[in-house]
Amino acid sequence: MTAFRSYPILGAAIAQLAALAMLVALRLVLAGLLDPMALFWTGLAVQCVTAAVVTRLIGLPVWWVWIGLAFPAAMSLAFHAGQLPAWPFGVAFVLLYLVFSNTARERVPLYLTNRQTAEALLSMMRQRGAGRFTDLGSGLGGVVRRIDGEGRVARGVESAPMVWLLSVLLSKIEGRGQILRQDIWAADISGEDIVYVFLSPEPMPALYRKAMGEMKPGSLLVSNSFAVPEVEADETWELPDRRKTRLYLYEMKGAAAA
Ligand SMILES: C[S@@+](CC[C@H](N)C(=O)[O-])C[C@H]1O[C@@H](n2cnc3c(N)ncnc32)[C@H](O)[C@@H]1O
Repeated sequence: MTAFRSYPILGAAIAQLAALAMLVALRLVLAGLLDPMALFWTGLAVQCVTAAVVTRLIGLPVWWVWIGLAFPAAMSLAFHAGQLPAWPFGVAFVLLYLVFSNTARERVPLYLTNRQTAEALLSMMRQRGAGRFTDLGSGLGGVVRRIDGEGRVARGVESAPMVWLLSVLLSKIEGRGQILRQDIWAADISGEDIVYVFLSPEPMPALYRKAMGEMKPGSLLVSNSFAVPEVEADETWELPDRRKTRLYLYEMKGAAAA
């Protein structure tokens, strides 16, 4: 089960295979009893429902259950759609990979910090008289560009190729911030006053360990929306924006304490 949680795609594939085995058995039983059309629709329903149930039984999150349910229907639709050109699917796949490559690897999709949160981070920098800021997983770099300037140095670290390229262009156009094409786990954060992340629950424990091991005493790790499990934040900021954003602030104690 732990393997499925680490590689949910494996669990999803096993659920579809289990459903396929069920379908083959059912077809053997019902072959002479139903007409071909009824057999097809029954088979499709069995494949969808069984895959969804198995996905749930092996403990994958609920959105994988929906994928398990919809996947056989989508495949069937694709097979019955007739002669479609293949290249748009290839292009769409490459584009999706270039933008969302970290979704599969790190379980971190692309969504962006809103304006109110960027303003709150800016005022946090000002209150603390902080000069150095890094956004780990900086997306389109909006936060980096908002913080950089007036003596502050802001960096973004991003590895999704298309997202990185766009954010570099935007930073060059505005002349603010520096975006590195790097993995967050390889980023040097030892000199930063504030490290900001807006990722997902998945990487938070390892990220906290990295921050505690590398960041200087008195510096801050700030996480948008996702708290570090089993670690009490030193402060929580609740913002008055529409999504009631929460910022979790963790003060670093230095590598020796970690
Ligand atoms: C939810 S978005 C947040 C974007 C930005 N920080 C913001 O708040 O607007 C998370 C970003 O982290 C990037 N990311 C996830 N894992 C990463 C990794 N291991 N190395 C570099 N970037 C990563 C994703 O590509 C995505 O652009």
